Amino acid sequence: MHTKVIRVDAAAPQADAIAEAAEILRRGGLVAFPTETVYGLGANALDSDAVARIFVAKGRPANNPLIVHIAQVIQAKELTETWPESAEALSARFWPGPLTLVLRRGSRVPDVVTAGGTTVALRLPAHPAALALLHAASMPLAAPSANRSSSLSPTRPEHVLRGLDGRIDLLLDAGPTTGGLESTVLDVASTPPRLLRPGLIAPAQIEAVIGPIERSLPRTVSRNQPIPSPGMLSRHYAPRAILECHEGIAAERVDKLAKQGIRVGCLTFGGDPQSRPMNVTTIEMPTDPAAYSAQLYAALHDLDQEEVERIVVSMPPEKEEWLAVRDRLRRASH
Ligand code: TXA
Ligand code: MG
Repeated sequence: MHTKVIRVDAAAPQADAIAEAAEILRRGGLVAFPTETVYGLGANALDSDAVARIFVAKGRPANNPLIVHIAQVIQAKELTETWPESAEALSARFWPGPLTLVLRRGSRVPDVVTAGGTTVALRLPAHPAALALLHAASMPLAAPSANRSSSLSPTRPEHVLRGLDGRIDLLLDAGPTTGGLESTVLDVASTPPRLLRPGLIAPAQIEAVIGPIERSLPRTVSRNQPIPSPGMLSRHYAPRAILECHEGIAAERVDKLAKQGIRVGCLTFGGDPQSRPMNVTTIEMPTDPAAYSAQLYAALHDLDQEEVERIVVSMPPEKEEWLAVRDRLRRASH
């Protein structure tokens, strides 16, 4: 399959490009498109055959359900069995935006989308190109991140092509995404609502709207337990190289590995020393959580491209504002 790439303006996507993408989706094809978090790989969520193609293109296990993207809140009500008050309040506050709500699934949603489960994950994204595409296609789009299963999520068009060139019909290239980490996933079908994946919307922001939520994520979920949200699988979002997380400055560890002749990449945080041996690639990460989130996957993709063998990360502090970043780094280290 040839993958066509069309460049679009992120703020004001060209109508002809969007119309071409929508037509591909209507015919059951696959379109990678930008969102405010990461690039998604979209297909008509109501067409089982089209959705099945997503699983093939990604090599995704069939037991991992997909997020359904919508353009208007009214579609959420059509795709769910019940629309609790918490969903009403949270969608009013955070949509369009990087919050995914897990709700009791309506009968129109195909099994392949929910992995046969009783719930469906819904999100109304904020990226102008994503919204334009959803409106033009006038259908809900099932869209996981546009990467091969269990590898790094794509925040730039070249990341999408690295994994999926020749496996999808079209990539809408709107340049780098701004958020950089995947949406927060919140299960509002359970009481109290439960955080399934930390993301760009923080638990405290959610609690300010609906009161206390369950935020204890099991540290690791083994493969033979039922999976509350497969994104919890411990190895996920991973680069090719082995990644080590270190609390505080990791300079000694980096030097030790480098002396052994290992090609090392390191992500520094704050006042890490600058001098490094030849075989070390250093990326100084921002000390602001939003800026760090926006750059994390690109930094890991870059280190993969440099074919480093080991990635050493000086972790940002264990504070709630760093919850999502630390979650992704921990997962990448398994
Ligand atoms: O920011 C995002 O959410 C991106 C963009 C493209 O929207 N999408 C994304 O999709 O990250 P994906 O498939 O890579 O991650 C979806 C997560 C997975 O952890 C999946 O297991 C979980 O959401 N999920 C989907 N449906 C679910 C459901 N019904 N119940 C629980 N978890 C669900
Ligand atoms: Mg993903």
